[in-house]
Amino acid sequence: MPSPTRLLALAALVVSAVALVPPGHQGLPHQSPDAATDTTPPTPDNDLIAATASQVDQKTSPPIDTPPNADVPPHLHVSSANATRRDLGRLGKRTAKPQFEKIFDGLPAGQHDASVQGTAYLTYTVVNNATYNVQACLDWCTKIDGCVFVNIFYEFNNYLLDFVFSERSNLRCAAYGDIHSAKEKLNFGGQSSYPQIGNETVPLTFITQSAGYGLSSLVDPDTPDGYDLVFGPTGGANNAPGYMGFAFIDQYDVNACAQLCNGRGVDSNGGGCAYFNIWRAVVDGVPTTYTCAMYYLPTDASTAVNFGQGPLVVTLSRGYARRDLLPDGSFESFAPCSDFCFAATSPFWIGTSPATGDLDASIFFFPPYAHSGHSSALLGAAFGDDALPGTLRPAKAIKTVKGAGYVVQCFMSSAFSGPALEAKAEVDVKWNGVRVGGTSGFTEYAFVEAAVVGTGSDQLEFVGGAAPAWTFIDDCHVYKA
Ligand SMILES: *[C@@H]1O[C@H](CO)[C@@H](O)[C@H](O)[C@H]1NC(C)=O
Ligand SMILES: *[C@@H]1O[C@H](CO)[C@@H](O)[C@H](O)[C@H]1NC(C)=O
Ligand SMILES: *[C@@H]1O[C@H](CO)[C@@H](O)[C@H](O)[C@H]1NC(C)=O
Repeated sequence: MPSPTRLLALAALVVSAVALVPPGHQGLPHQSPDAATDTTPPTPDNDLIAATASQVDQKTSPPIDTPPNADVPPHLHVSSANATRRDLGRLGKRTAKPQFEKIFDGLPAGQHDASVQGTAYLTYTVVNNATYNVQACLDWCTKIDGCVFVNIFYEFNNYLLDFVFSERSNLRCAAYGDIHSAKEKLNFGGQSSYPQIGNETVPLTFITQSAGYGLSSLVDPDTPDGYDLVFGPTGGANNAPGYMGFAFIDQYDVNACAQLCNGRGVDSNGGGCAYFNIWRAVVDGVPTTYTCAMYYLPTDASTAVNFGQGPLVVTLSRGYARRDLLPDGSFESFAPCSDFCFAATSPFWIGTSPATGDLDASIFFFPPYAHSGHSSALLGAAFGDDALPGTLRPAKAIKTVKGAGYVVQCFMSSAFSGPALEAKAEVDVKWNGVRVGGTSGFTEYAFVEAAVVGTGSDQLEFVGGAAPAWTFIDDCHVYKA
């Protein structure tokens, strides 16, 4: 026979199990001792960005030993294999024939000059040097994706230009994806290219007649696939919560920034990248780098208030939000009360139960259950009166592009009843009836992601919950991958 203390302990155990108040009766979730870290979403460290921008060196001229007409380096081409039509003009759409204007003249023939050492160098060609052939250079630029500026100049004593490359011309035409000024004429040559013969002095390269021609401004970029332009171009970079870090890219390439956002690791509190801000850093009047700042919380022009620091000026700032195919993935539009309420459906979601089940999938207005805001969804009988799995799905099928890749992202918490009772928690993420991901076992709100392929019209479902192993779901998104 158990001792009185043991009996007491058993009684306490029974009471605690009975005392578990289900979500439907506004029970409070189990509290993990270390779960109370309420993190404030981070904002950008603009001093760090400015300091780093002043140190990066992304300025180049055509290399002395590269053959003409090399492809633009592939790392600048980030669009996927099956680019759609709207991807094609990704570095700029040109409706009319581009109008180049002379930005600076070369020095008179015979005087040593310098070529541009600038950002966003793309590639170069040589044009027939029988004349100072500016037009051939401009015509060539119009065929180079992203070319908005050329630097045309003679380079003497380059052995490869003089004797090796088939074009036999020393009139170089260098293409850039940004517009440069005469103050960036910083490459004076002075390299040895001719072979050493005996004790003869090797002649050094030198440059003459280095002129610059450009468009009046950078071409407006096409909006990247899966995104919407939120604002810009303006002179203000975003300074907003939900910041996930930045990258410098070597030209103003919105698609490269979009790919960085899509591939960004997740923030454990905030989730995946949902927004990016691309801007050009001009330091002492010279384009210096292109910042791609990423956020898990979308923002807009109202927070684009960082205009630069010291010699750094923010230019061409644009914000792009990742297009969410899921209406109300945050469940926030469920708000028929201001305190506590729940229902099997909301304007955007439908919860269903097995025939003998009761409220096995529901949507709650109750801030303590939500990952953010006031509402979230619950899988598992709201009143705890059955242990059957519920199914939650968007009211409308998701419109996708057939064959395109997408990601389903959510936060899920199977913590309500504590580690022991939640050990059996299980929720499947299903895409057209097929399991593509999910969660299992005890967990506080954690990020859950599944990769899927669109068929054109797709059904997303969350299936699971077996009370008292309840699972809450919040802050879901479906993004193009
Ligand atoms: C590109 O499209 C083809 C034909 O539609 C398909 O077979 C292929 O898997 C696609 N590739 C990618 C990377 O999506
Ligand atoms: C044209 O380029 C070739 C090859 O570099 C060079 O030998 C020749 O002198 C150049 N002609 C003029 C007029 O500069
Ligand atoms: C180069 O070498 C030759 C013979 O080897 C010599 O006569 C001449 O003075 C040398 N020139 C120089 C500049 O050293």
